[in-house]
Amino acid sequence: MSLPQSDIGLVGLAVMGQNLALNIADHGFRISVYNRTTVTMEKFVAAHPSTPGGLDGQATIEGFVASLKRPRKIIILVKAGAGTDAVIDSLVPHLEEGDIIIDGGNALWTDTIRREKDLKAKGLRFIGSGVSGGEEGARFGPSLMPGGDKAAFEEIRPIWEAIAAKVDDKTGKPLEGATPGHPIVGGVPCTTYIGPNGAGHYVKMVHNGIEYGDMQMICEAFALMKNLLGMSAEECAAVFKTWNTGVLDSFLIEITADILAQKDPVTGKAFVDIVLDTAGQKGTGKWTSTNALDMGVPAPTVAEAVFARYLSAVKEERVNASKLLKGPAVSFTGDKQAMIDAIHDALYCSKICAYAQGFQLMRTAQVDYKWDLPFGEIAKIFRGGCIIRARFLQKITEAYQHNHDLVNLLLDPFFTSELDRCQTNWRKVVAAAATNGVATPTFFSALSYFDAYRTETLPANLLQAQRDFFGAHTYERTDSPRGKFFHLDWPEPGRPQLEV
Ligand code: 6PG
Repeated sequence: MSLPQSDIGLVGLAVMGQNLALNIADHGFRISVYNRTTVTMEKFVAAHPSTPGGLDGQATIEGFVASLKRPRKIIILVKAGAGTDAVIDSLVPHLEEGDIIIDGGNALWTDTIRREKDLKAKGLRFIGSGVSGGEEGARFGPSLMPGGDKAAFEEIRPIWEAIAAKVDDKTGKPLEGATPGHPIVGGVPCTTYIGPNGAGHYVKMVHNGIEYGDMQMICEAFALMKNLLGMSAEECAAVFKTWNTGVLDSFLIEITADILAQKDPVTGKAFVDIVLDTAGQKGTGKWTSTNALDMGVPAPTVAEAVFARYLSAVKEERVNASKLLKGPAVSFTGDKQAMIDAIHDALYCSKICAYAQGFQLMRTAQVDYKWDLPFGEIAKIFRGGCIIRARFLQKITEAYQHNHDLVNLLLDPFFTSELDRCQTNWRKVVAAAATNGVATPTFFSALSYFDAYRTETLPANLLQAQRDFFGAHTYERTDSPRGKFFHLDWPEPGRPQLEV
């Protein structure tokens, strides 16, 4: 008796691949799975004999492709880069016109653009889909950001909508409580068609850039509580737990409270204190920052978060410098609770700036790549499943619902008034960090971004005059229309100034 053909296939059974396959099978879709190392596939299939949809393990690419319904839909979940190209190359000879390949890895969006073009020339359809939410998200509901062939997305939409995280549309709250074999029923799925070719992976990259900012900001809040206020990890955990009930309510704040409350099973010390302070990265934050520089978009806070990871990585240099470079003695004498509240507000305002920068990137990229990105929908699908899911994404959703063409998130009336309400505290925290020598680069960067963005006249007038002085780079005049350039015939350096 021949087995039924599968609705979809998946290549790459590392943890994310396994979890996504189980999520798909939990929703009643039959899924074929293939892995380069066959024994991994065999163990996986044997461990899950009775999922609602069914798993079909295949040991060869030929058998895998033959096991799929036409047009074939194949998800690739392997380490982004050359591995993705290798899998595509191994699949292509076995596919037929109209078949669909979906890359769910953290691919560089320009690679996705290239792959989509190459596959289109071969009659194949390609979707680059951001998948956010880590292992847990993949298993019970990720946020999915698909870009590429629109008609192809329509064919995978039922599966994508079924497996995505779900939120309550009115409150924006994620619906939780899925267990193996019992997925969430109802709610709005955290997926939407993002746009052509690399749009989905671009949005996922920006998501990760914001994620870098968010994580670093939380770490800075922790550093201030620990180093300025002398609080223990446990005390900090309690603060984060409280914060998670207010405007900062988010996945990252929630796990921060859990992490800080955790003891090291070996020593019994606070777990965070036995973790070496050197952060790794896989590159998506760097891509976001490099792209910001390439497009000329100010996204300093996201970049600062990447630099903070680099600085953390030079541990030996820092240990040496800590003995040679002296800073102020830390002294805090004020109202401790008031400072904790101020740190909360500094984190909130800085976070708003990081999101504003992320959305600025998307606004510019959509012009460069001729996309028409659905900002309101993007904010909506970030509300559940993904790493940056947070209560205030409901407010970002509303901001773009009110005005799709919002120039900058800071200009949305809600965020303008929140920044106004909280900025005194933000300034207080940045000043205290500077006075006491506690490094808080993203808090500083975000505040400078905010101050520069709201400043009518920046000192770039002097900068432009300097450029004109030494290089005849010309300048525009305040009393002349934009786009008209002038040059002053400057005297030699140190010579008397020109007569008026
Ligand atoms: C997600 C995460 C995920 C991954 C990051 C980690 O949305 O689920 O962003 O994609 O955890 O890429 O990135 P780093 O290793 O660079 O911190």
